[in-house]
Amino acid sequence: MELTEQQKSMLAGESGNALSLAINTLIDYGLTFGAKRLVPIVSAHLAGSFGAFIYKAYYNIIDKLVTEGVTVKVPTTLNPRPGEQLNLLNRYIFRKQKFFDQKMKQLGVTPNYSCVCYEGANVPKKGDILAWSESSAVQYANSVLGARTNRNSVLIDICSAVTGLTPEFGYLLDENRRGRLLVKLDVKKMDASALGYLLGQKVVNRVPVIEHYPFSELELKNMGGAMAASGAVALFHVEGLTPEAPDLKTVFDGEPDETIIIDQKDLDSLRKPIQNPDLVVFGCPQMTLAEAVKLGESFEGKKCKHKTWFCLAPEAFEKFTQTRSYQYAKKAGVEVHQHCPLASLTVRLGTKNVLSNSGKLVYYLDKAHYNNTEECLKICGGRL
Ligand code: F3S
Repeated sequence: MELTEQQKSMLAGESGNALSLAINTLIDYGLTFGAKRLVPIVSAHLAGSFGAFIYKAYYNIIDKLVTEGVTVKVPTTLNPRPGEQLNLLNRYIFRKQKFFDQKMKQLGVTPNYSCVCYEGANVPKKGDILAWSESSAVQYANSVLGARTNRNSVLIDICSAVTGLTPEFGYLLDENRRGRLLVKLDVKKMDASALGYLLGQKVVNRVPVIEHYPFSELELKNMGGAMAASGAVALFHVEGLTPEAPDLKTVFDGEPDETIIIDQKDLDSLRKPIQNPDLVVFGCPQMTLAEAVKLGESFEGKKCKHKTWFCLAPEAFEKFTQTRSYQYAKKAGVEVHQHCPLASLTVRLGTKNVLSNSGKLVYYLDKAHYNNTEECLKICGGRL
């Protein structure tokens, strides 16, 4: 790999042993995928935010960086906390949370604890080179904002944050960002999260181009999160809507490899008609302020028929508590949280029959059921 003089010096250990290991890791990672050089990044986002006691090697590496006085070289944000205080089991499993939070602080990481970091704490511009992990955030940055990042892993993200570098391959390069597969829609009632779930399964890791549909930012967030979970999609385009797809000719730069049609029956096939869930969850990826306000309004004068969670990014949570909508939701009995629902529910033994409008949560969580936002609200006692 071609390295600059500065990068060679870091590799040689002139900035310390921990940074030498970090850059060496990035070189190995890049060589595996054919990268020819390391390039500077504008920001990093870290996915490894859960203080589970079993991640010993992870903590050793972070500790090594902190002990040598290393700090992040670029603005770096952090995924949600795991709901470590929710119950006894969570307290036991995530008992390293305080230690982890302290180490992140020492590294200089922004304690935003949000997987929708692009909502405020870390907003990239079109063309910015990033080193993000968290598949839903990667998807949003690439697809909706037109920034450039690969789907990095936990630890690779930290190596990038502390060196300010990432290997140049994959979605950083023009040739891998063009559309591969055309998605035609034959749909009367859109369900973006279900569409994302289905597309992830069908396109796996190719770049889909969805024919024009006026998706809202919220729909793009929830569709992308589902697509990145049920498949390995890191970039999608929507004709005439997302920044790199002004029209089909530009985004394909040739003919699509394949065309698929998604119809109403496909979308509706994901919905499961359960009426007595143990828990109804909204917010994976975490709810934004606009999303919480909109859904909270639907609880005006209502009472929850089933246990209901709103999971918001902390920044949005603070603002949400100042709204009338929050009062409606709280009065109705909605529990408003700031953690990642997946982490807390995965360790919560005996929680069955979770209902959610999140394609991502339903894909990952055992015994979870999907329905669209309108139906989830109706079942738990709200109304859109
Ligand atoms: Fe975010 Fe947790 Fe879902 S990190 S995308 S809320 S699984």
